Amino acid sequence: MADTDDIREGRSFGLDTPATSRGFFLKGMDGADWGLKNRMARIFNRTSGRTVMLAFDHGFLMGPTSGLERIDLNIAPLAEHADCLMGTRGMIRTCIPAENDKPICLRTDTGTTILTEMNHNVLIAEQEAVRMNAAAMAVMLSVGEETTEASTIANLSRLVDIGMKYGIPVMGVTAVGKQMTRDARYFGMASRVCAENGASIVKTYYTEGFEQVVACCPVPVVIAGGKKLPELEALELCHNAIQCGAAGVDMGRNVFQSECPLAMMQAVKSVVHDGARPTEALDLYNTIRHES
Ligand code: R5P
Repeated sequence: MADTDDIREGRSFGLDTPATSRGFFLKGMDGADWGLKNRMARIFNRTSGRTVMLAFDHGFLMGPTSGLERIDLNIAPLAEHADCLMGTRGMIRTCIPAENDKPICLRTDTGTTILTEMNHNVLIAEQEAVRMNAAAMAVMLSVGEETTEASTIANLSRLVDIGMKYGIPVMGVTAVGKQMTRDARYFGMASRVCAENGASIVKTYYTEGFEQVVACCPVPVVIAGGKKLPELEALELCHNAIQCGAAGVDMGRNVFQSECPLAMMQAVKSVVHDGARPTEALDLYNTIRHES
């Protein structure tokens, strides 16, 4: 029953302090709904404005590639050093404990593997993202691929409609078109297509002239790591991308295929969040590797 007696009058109206309205800390998000911004704020660090996402969605295309044979053993222990975990519903459900408190970026398109022609993908049911408490939903776009460009852009558009309905940001993941040169012009165009279609985060590849890719994309851009590189080169890649304005990384193979994934996670984090130089981050990598 509602208490009707002893209702206390409000007194602290802060009359000397006008209510403020401040911009959101990530670019392109001022017009977004509170729920979407709140999810973005879980993925991106508020101090650095950046994120270290750990990508382990490769298996749905490649099967148990090196480093992903046992996600419960190889990936779950890295979660504490990541800002966000990106994977498929099957692997997250079976291998990541539900007690995990890191935001999930759910891979929402599926359909084909590396054994056939890739990217003929469809979206999984939208309820899955809600059920799995996704902080973001990821979908691949193959800009420049004659047979899959239209359907993958349609997937992104539909996913953005779904994301808008529930306040869940969508990350557009740019695939590399076979016919396209992997340069700033191509990645700039592919990233822009993601943003034009409503993506709140764009994931693409670092290339020379990356500052142009970032400049013409009105939402945060994160980079994929690509094929495994020697640790110093991978850290240089992260550093260069950050210098060009990237809002972080969504990295997979260069972490989980490293000789010491736990050390590599922390080294990448030091570059992305603390502005460490690649050689400093490599020292950190070596120190942690030798201690563990
Ligand atoms: C590609 O479809 C996936 O989203 C991968 O997760 C992505 O390429 C990032 O992984 P990596 O750093 O291994 O390139």
